[in-house]
Amino acid sequence: MSADLLTRRAALIGATALLAPLAPNILLGAPNPSGKTSLLKLDGNENPYGPSPAARQAILASVGEAPRYADETIASLTNQLAAREGVAPSQIVIGAGSGELLKMAGILAVTSLSGAEVVASRPTYEELPVFAQALGLKVQWVAPDTDHRHDLSAMRAAITPLTHLVYVCNPNNPTGTAVTRDALETFIRSVPVSCTIIVDEAYVDLADQSGVATVAALVNQVPNVVVLRTFSKLHGLAGLRIGYAIAPAELAQRLTALSLTWPNSTGLAAAIASFNDHSYLKATRAALTGDRAKVHATLDRMGLHRADAQGNFVFFDTGGPLKRFQDRMLAEGIKVGRHFDGYDTWARVTIGLHQEVDRFLHTLPRALSGN
Ligand SMILES: Cc1ncc(COP(=O)(O)O)c(C=O)c1O
Repeated sequence: MSADLLTRRAALIGATALLAPLAPNILLGAPNPSGKTSLLKLDGNENPYGPSPAARQAILASVGEAPRYADETIASLTNQLAAREGVAPSQIVIGAGSGELLKMAGILAVTSLSGAEVVASRPTYEELPVFAQALGLKVQWVAPDTDHRHDLSAMRAAITPLTHLVYVCNPNNPTGTAVTRDALETFIRSVPVSCTIIVDEAYVDLADQSGVATVAALVNQVPNVVVLRTFSKLHGLAGLRIGYAIAPAELAQRLTALSLTWPNSTGLAAAIASFNDHSYLKATRAALTGDRAKVHATLDRMGLHRADAQGNFVFFDTGGPLKRFQDRMLAEGIKVGRHFDGYDTWARVTIGLHQEVDRFLHTLPRALSGN
């Protein structure tokens, strides 16, 4: 194929990708060519609005970088993140999603102290605690408070000299609840410095509850706190696997030494572009939080018990077995989240596009009937 033909083909493919609906799920509720309505996935806490226009351009343009290892792009994103967070570049660790960093934190614990233990709330996002168990670490699970929030006093009380890691997910998945920045700072400062606190802020950009905010600034004041963020949620880049840690320099260095793989060049390019696409991020945040409030209002009108959602998903009590609710929703073409221990009748539902949220709310009374 001639270089000219290649260029023309690339231009055509590029144009198609850029013109593709910004929201890939937009088609999910429509009949597919077979005439069947395809599945509406509201179970994965993904962002249906997808990458920003600038990120889409960057994804296409990144093809030329594919043959190279991404050292320079890692450095660019690291510098950008460091400047935004007010830390040195050496305090940023980029991972293949924050999932890689959660696993690196588990390895950090296992390699630091024989018989180390982990403290975590339950239910929570399980990637770190479950990986820690697979590494042979014991996890001390702590029940949430009556508002389904992390019970920070109980978590503090669960810390023993063996505890090497504490996992705080704020806002928490699956409950969606968050503790305030001040409460979290008091907790962090109360934890012995021999124990590292991992604060997972995957959803913090979507929080609007008063007093809930990032604790990233503490990495310059406290030696044992690591804050994790991801481009998978607000930025809509889950498939491209970019997350990062903000940490005190020494912990950042130790984490870097444990990294499992390299971030990919396309994800990095998309993250750099998305990071500065403020108007798109603002619009996405407004759409998701607006629809979250709408779901809250409907659940409240229906008298259903719910947690105070601060992420892109809502957790509520269906009043009957979750399996029945899941099956009824599935029969209507909607997939909702899985079961969580201790919450046998509760469902977690991800906020989709406006029309998807409307479809869910329209189906809800039927799926609940008889509960
Ligand atoms: C609280 C929380 N942390 C981390 C992750 C993992 O995100 P990533 O795609 O960055 O690995 C998720 C994914 O759903 C999550 O809910």
